[in-house]
Amino acid sequence: MDAIVLVGGEGTRLRPLTYDIPKQMLPIVDRSMIEHVVGWLARHGIDRVVLSVGYRPDAFVEAFPEGELCGVRLAYAVEPEPLDTAGAVAFAAESASVRDTFLVLNGDVLTDFDLGSLLEFHRDRGGAATIGLTPVADPSSFGVVPTDSESRVTAFIEKPAPGTAPTNLINAGCYVLEPSVLELVPTGRRVSIERETFPALAEHGVLYALSSDAYWIDTGTPEKFVRASLDVLHGLRTAASLPSVPESARGAFVDPSALVLGRVGPATFVGRGALIAEGSEIADSVVSEDAVVEAGARISGSVVMAGARIGARAVLESSIVGPGADVGPSCNVSGFSVLGARCNLEAGSTLVAARFPSE
Ligand code: GTP
Repeated sequence: MDAIVLVGGEGTRLRPLTYDIPKQMLPIVDRSMIEHVVGWLARHGIDRVVLSVGYRPDAFVEAFPEGELCGVRLAYAVEPEPLDTAGAVAFAAESASVRDTFLVLNGDVLTDFDLGSLLEFHRDRGGAATIGLTPVADPSSFGVVPTDSESRVTAFIEKPAPGTAPTNLINAGCYVLEPSVLELVPTGRRVSIERETFPALAEHGVLYALSSDAYWIDTGTPEKFVRASLDVLHGLRTAASLPSVPESARGAFVDPSALVLGRVGPATFVGRGALIAEGSEIADSVVSEDAVVEAGARISGSVVMAGARIGARAVLESSIVGPGADVGPSCNVSGFSVLGARCNLEAGSTLVAARFPSE
């Protein structure tokens, strides 16, 4: 079976990181987000993934030049211009000759949703499309999907005002579609699956939905992006998402080639060749390969990407440091600040909920 994975967005909420690296190529613990997604698809027997790319397609092609990932064949559908979600699906299906029932996934959702049950449910109901649903505490920033007693979707409400949503079940960004749905997507312009295609299918009574309590997160914001890694390290996901290095008694996953002289753990990953100097403390964080954490630095609830340096006595709390970035000594970075690739933050600087460099 084919799956189309949407990875063409610009990821504006994760700028400046996403100026250099498309969102799905950013790391979640020890591998890129797209590897987590394709690995999950592979475990459900998907044999071909069509990556619907538009923004920085080169990053994907360079990372997977063999056209294969997790044992799954990859095809690329490169949009000439952003076509929005339904436009992207129709373009990808056409360019990769998708002919049978297929899956569609938002590439920035990480989930352990049981796709086998979703497919079985779809075949059982016999609709044109089936949406996977997930419960959330506050549905106001999502697409809310009420259903009737036969699981038929009765409406599709995008981002309802707080307190007005009829249910807390939202569109989980994973769908089963019949090829007939593509006939509803006009060509030559942007078309949103959430705002146009699904409401039209719901009106015709051919759209169904299945909810699941399985792990689910939309990684689009800095806070959720960090959370996605921490959830893996806290064991909230299936074992397949865990790093391959063994967990220490302190709850740390440290690559054997890393040199750790400071205190590491719990729920921490230290990648290949990283150096954690004496007197430093790291908890609830990811320190990727070849990163350097200097003496006396403290890191918590953060992601430090490959080759970055955190200077002596710097404090990093709930923040993201891009690959090759240099955070000077005694800096204080917090509040889901995002530092772009290869930036230099001067010694002694303070950043709270900031983007650096700013736009
Ligand atoms: P923000 O700019 O931060 O909202 O992120 P985004 O660009 O990723 O947008 P959003 O989170 O709404 O997109 C959901 C999913 O659809 C992501 O996996 C995007 O990569 C993808 N996506 C959004 N727009 C397009 C598009 O025009 N074409 C393609 N191929 N994918 C898209």
